[in-house]
Amino acid sequence: MVEHSQTSNEITSDYAAVGGGAAISSVVDLFYQSVLADPQLVGYFEGTDLARLKRHQVQLVSQVMGGPVSYEGADLAEAHRGRGITDADFGRVVEHLIAALAAHSVPEDIVGRVVQALGATQGDIVTAR
Ligand code: HEM
Repeated sequence: MVEHSQTSNEITSDYAAVGGGAAISSVVDLFYQSVLADPQLVGYFEGTDLARLKRHQVQLVSQVMGGPVSYEGADLAEAHRGRGITDADFGRVVEHLIAALAAHSVPEDIVGRVVQALGATQGDIVTAR
C-alpha cells in the first residue's frame, strides 16, 4: 500500500510556514518593542510614525519571506538617509530581529534566510562610520 505523505516537491513559502501575516505582525511588534527599549537605538526613532513604520516593515518581511504582499514604503536608502546609522546600530537591529523571530519559534533555516535578505540592505542603511 502506498502511504500518503505530503509530497516533497510541494512548495511552501517561508511566509506560509511561519503562519502568514498574523505571525509576521506579531514578530514585527516584538521587534520594535525591543528596538525601542534599546538605549542605543531609541533616539533614532524620535518623531517616527510607528504605525506606518510597522506596517511597512510587515510588508517588507512578508515580501522577503515569499508572501503575497508587496512592500509599499520608501526606498530604503532614502528612508535611512541622513540618520547617521552605524554598522554597530545595524548589527543591534538585526539581533533584535533574530530574537523576535526566535521568540516566535521560527525555525533557524528560515531565520537565516530572512536575515540574509534584510542584511543585504546594510549598504543602503548604514551611512556613518
Ligand atoms: C535590517 C535592517 C533594517 C531594515 C530592513 C529596515 C527597514 C525599514 C523600513 C521598511 C522602514 C519604513 C520606511 C517607510 O515607512 O517608508 C524603516 C524606517 C526607519 N528605520 Fe529602518 N531598517 C533597518 C535598519 C535600521 C537601523 C539600523 C536603524 C537605526 C538604528 C533604522 C532606523 C529607522 C528609522 C528611524 C525609520 C523611520 C523613518 C521615518 O520616520 O520615516 N533602521 N526601516
